[in-house]
Amino acid sequence: MEQRFDVGRGVVVLERGDITRQDTEAIANAANSTLLGGGGVDGAIHRAAGPKLLQACRDAKRTLPSGLLPTGQAVLTPGFRLRAAHVIHCVGPVYAREGQDAPRLLASCYANALRLCREHDIRSIAFPSISTGVYGYPVQEAAPIALAAVRDALEANDTPHLVKFSLFDDTTLEAYGAAARDLFGGRAGRGS
Ligand code: APR
Repeated sequence: MEQRFDVGRGVVVLERGDITRQDTEAIANAANSTLLGGGGVDGAIHRAAGPKLLQACRDAKRTLPSGLLPTGQAVLTPGFRLRAAHVIHCVGPVYAREGQDAPRLLASCYANALRLCREHDIRSIAFPSISTGVYGYPVQEAAPIALAAVRDALEANDTPHLVKFSLFDDTTLEAYGAAARDLFGGRAGRGS
């Protein structure tokens, strides 16, 4: 059962789901700085997209000064076999490593991904819960940061119009739901 919220000029949707199954125009990947794949969301997206995604990531790496994507930054590639036409690879903060910079770096992942949506006229994007798995970000802390960053972008811009969170377990869904109700009120989105 999805939860919809009218936020700024757009809509935020929270749901239990597998990011690789989403038919939004883009999906975000919880990647690492090497862009060479990994486990969790990263592994699932690479498996679903097929081997051409890794080649596209290697090509993107060549445009990066050190060949590494810094924490908080994002790059766009095609989605290949995914239903989504684009993948936006974000490098979230490792909670234990970034300390007081962690909130800013997590917010910048979402802000940079949404900037890329504007730059490429991508009208819908689905996010996983970046950094709350292997990277150890407590989901109760990460959810309000993620949603506030999305709110700021939707209040200032028309694109994207739809921001979905595809959340992989009930604990994560409940954390984002509580943060969304707190930030957005109980507003149900249009057509809900
Ligand atoms: N769809 C949606 N969410 C998923 C999926 C999926 N198919 N698979 C896992 N998740 C959830 C996890 O349960 C967690 O809530 O995504 C969230 C992020 O978890 P991770 O994938 O571990 O991402 P992160 O914490 O950002 O760690 C990134 O893990 O896989 C490596 O290469 C990656 O080094 C990078 C690190």
